[in-house]
Amino acid sequence: MENFEVVNPTRIIFGKKQLSRLPELLSSFNVKRPMIVYGGGSIKRIGLFDEIMDCLDGFELTEFGGVEANPDFDTLMKGVELARTKDTDFILAVGGGSVIDGVKFMSGAIPYKSDPWDVLDKKEDCNFTQAIPFGALLTLPATGSEANSGAVISRREYNEKRLMGGPLFFPKFSFCDPTVVATLPRRQIANGLIDAYMHTLEQYLTFPSDNILQERQAESILTTLIEISGVIDDPGNYKLASNLMWCATHALNGNLRCGVVSDWTTHMIGHELTAMYGIDHAQSLAIIGPRLYENQFENKREKLIQYGKRVWNLAGDDDSIARQAIEKTEAFFQSLGVKTKISDYTQKFSGTDETIKQVFIDRGWVEMGERKAIRPDDVQAIVKAAF
Ligand code: NZQ
Ligand code: ZN
Repeated sequence: MENFEVVNPTRIIFGKKQLSRLPELLSSFNVKRPMIVYGGGSIKRIGLFDEIMDCLDGFELTEFGGVEANPDFDTLMKGVELARTKDTDFILAVGGGSVIDGVKFMSGAIPYKSDPWDVLDKKEDCNFTQAIPFGALLTLPATGSEANSGAVISRREYNEKRLMGGPLFFPKFSFCDPTVVATLPRRQIANGLIDAYMHTLEQYLTFPSDNILQERQAESILTTLIEISGVIDDPGNYKLASNLMWCATHALNGNLRCGVVSDWTTHMIGHELTAMYGIDHAQSLAIIGPRLYENQFENKREKLIQYGKRVWNLAGDDDSIARQAIEKTEAFFQSLGVKTKISDYTQKFSGTDETIKQVFIDRGWVEMGERKAIRPDDVQAIVKAAF
């Protein structure tokens, strides 16, 4: 087993009808002037906004809405300016991964004295060293952002999607109420299932490890997600919805990476497709994942066999189990109504493979994957095969 260190300070408040706990939690952080941050308005349509307002009587509240899916630097900077004017002392993110990630960025950018883009741009010696504390009310189980310290921020002006994070960026608390699943459009439930599934695969489909527990935990998340995927047709089913939400949190709360080697290349390539074409995050993973596993078949063969046997109950000769495991994965995504080719989303993809290869070279991402075997030429081949 690899050495590891892990800490996760986020308090998860899981279940129905927990919102009355919010004022007491805010008071425990001595909050006086909270800012509520949300997306394009779904929280108003589902009645959650009014419920929160009822709870927050007595606080000097500021409101900042309009954070888009794949939160944009320029939008978030408007929230940063507002928070500075209002002397905000706590941020409440109400939404999916985009709003929570946006709030992570804002919490670091508000007290930052220089241009926060420098931090996302990884400019030397530029880093957030303080953060305004924040909490989350999750409305879309998918990213695990409610239980981790990472964020992904887009800047459409430059066609960029950048990562940030670190110990300052764990939410103080996250309310995870599975009844929100009943309000989600089908597309977002499919996205949630796929994102959680791919987070698990990225930390699992490398090579067999000695961490038997982590291997089994990853497999149990994968099999649970397959078992409860009927949630897409029955989103009001609390048993299915609560398992989806708990799987999504578990898939990226830092647990699965302990003592194993991961490979986040599908995410890295997927982020570029989102930056270039606005393809939903999970859709980009459904496009790239299967092609990457084909490209890396020999390197991942042993683990693909284990995955095929344990998760898909496949039998037969090893090579065919490994191949079928990839096919089953893609068929699973398609069964959720998600298309798995770039050409299903845009016709203007010529040159995409070269562009993404060049981005990887420019960023120094030239030896990716668990064996450092995914080179820029492989990235190009993976994207090309995904057309
Ligand atoms: O903006 P509103 O009106 O709220 O609508 C949203 C949005 O249009 C809607 N929605 C959310 N909750 C809803 C709802 N509609 C109806 N009822 C509800 N209860 O869903 C749409 C998508 O929301 P978004 O937050 O963008 O989706 P998701 O949670 O999939 O987040 C995607 C973002 O997270 C990043 C992605 O790159 C992307 O930017 N990720 C963050 C990670 C992390 N922090 O750990 C890891 C992930 O791999 C991922 O990269
Ligand atoms: Zn993801």
